[in-house]
Amino acid sequence: MAMERIDTTAALQALAHAERCAGRRIALVPTMGALHAGHVSLVKIARERADRVWLSIFVNPTQFDDPRDLAAYPRTLEADLAICRDAGVDAVFTPDAAQMYPAGAQTSVEVDELAAPLCGAARPGHFRGVATVVTKLLVAAQPHVAVFGEKDYQQLAVIRRLVRDLLLPVEIVGAPTVREPDGLALSSRNSYLDKSARASALALVESLRAAARAFAQGERRGDALTAEGASSIAAHPEVSVDYFAVVDAVAMQPVVDATPESVGIVAARVGKTRLIDNMVLGQPE
Ligand code: PAF
Repeated sequence: MAMERIDTTAALQALAHAERCAGRRIALVPTMGALHAGHVSLVKIARERADRVWLSIFVNPTQFDDPRDLAAYPRTLEADLAICRDAGVDAVFTPDAAQMYPAGAQTSVEVDELAAPLCGAARPGHFRGVATVVTKLLVAAQPHVAVFGEKDYQQLAVIRRLVRDLLLPVEIVGAPTVREPDGLALSSRNSYLDKSARASALALVESLRAAARAFAQGERRGDALTAEGASSIAAHPEVSVDYFAVVDAVAMQPVVDATPESVGIVAARVGKTRLIDNMVLGQPE
């Protein structure tokens, strides 16, 4: 079956209705394009859980706190469509901004406490944009399952919460982070890194490994684990840290006493490129 390309929310809703009436399960993989092996892994997970796999590509303007970041975000539609075809995606949804934000749109979705710390504090309005567009995508595509990467750990927590709070009938599945052989988490933003920045970017995963190592050696105090990670990344002056924290996996708040489920979480700028990563302390990599 040839891959379908859909540009309008009306066409997407009609297809969702037809697939549901035919008794087929739909899985949605929301993305902003610039697809890589991490996205392909989400498609594979989606395929295991549904009869139809749909992937959306929309660079969502409302989640960018800096217009220069939005303008520079990689847009590689033709390559993305080829990746989707090879990965066996059934339909790709490629709306424009007018489809997702009808003229005069005034409604947004805000998740309070979960969205406040970490990336929420560093990027004001970011999670309002994410929560709003993900809600719209879920309403338009009506999937049974939606798959998101665990690399965006706080984003995943925010999405799980909004789905629960808004009673949306969809299962949210988190997919493990895909890493390069040396540990760098795959990200569309890695394409900005030159050779030396690429080497510096390893400071993020190393800081997480430092905290996970201390945890494996018996350290349980959240502040001591945080200090391990923070001092590891501080050894790289070319990397500018937004935050390093050890947080509760659900509440996203710093832990006093860490458990194997606690998450080391880091955001830092390498040159102009902002990268994020995280690691569950009891399951390093
Ligand atoms: O993770 C992303 O690519 C985006 O934040 C998402 C979930 C597609 C919303 O625009």
